[in-house]
Amino acid sequence: MERTLLILKPDCLQRRLTGRILQRFEDKGLVLAGMKLMQISTDLAERHYAPHKGKPFYPGLIDYITSGPVVVMVLAGQRAIDISRTLMGKTFGYEAQPGTIRGDFGASRTFNLIHGSDSPETAATEIALYFNDDELLDYAPVGSEWVFQPGEE
Ligand code: RTP
Ligand code: MG
Repeated sequence: MERTLLILKPDCLQRRLTGRILQRFEDKGLVLAGMKLMQISTDLAERHYAPHKGKPFYPGLIDYITSGPVVVMVLAGQRAIDISRTLMGKTFGYEAQPGTIRGDFGASRTFNLIHGSDSPETAATEIALYFNDDELLDYAPVGSEWVFQPGEE
C-alpha cells in the first residue's frame, strides 16, 4: 500500500479541528499507520520545507509550522497520496473548493490547516523525517477489502 505523510498544522489544533479532519481520512478508508503529537523544531521545519527555502513566504512558513503543537501521521492505502491531496483541496483556503478540508475550514494562505506529501519521493523523504520504521504499523482493518480492490492499479 502507498503511504503518505500528513501534518495537522498548528491552526488545526488551536481550532480543535483534529478529530473532524482525521474523520475525513478514516471515512475515505485510508489506514492510520503512524501518529504522534509533537511541536516541530526550527531545525526539523527547515529540513521539511527545504524546497521552499529562499521564497518570500518561507520565513513565515517556518514561524507558523513551529508555533504550536501539530499531529503528524502516516496514512496508507492505494493512491493514498493523491486521495489525501484531493481531500485537502487547493493550497490557499480562499481558492479551495467547498467539500475539501481547506475549502470548508480555511480562508488564508498560511493558515491552511494541513500538509500532505505531494509525490511518492516526497512521501518517503518526509515519513523518514518524522518516524522510525518501528513506529509504523502495517495492518489491514476489517472492511479494507471493501475499500481497496486487491490488484487494482
Ligand atoms: P503543504 O506543502 O503545506 O502541504 O502545502 P501545498 O503542497 O499545498 O503547498 P506548497 O506549494 O508546498 O507550499 C507550502 C506552504 O507554503 C505556504 N505558501 N504560501 N504565496 C504564498 O504566500 C505561499 N505559497 C505557499 C502555504 O502555507 C503552503 O501550505
Ligand atoms: Mg507542499
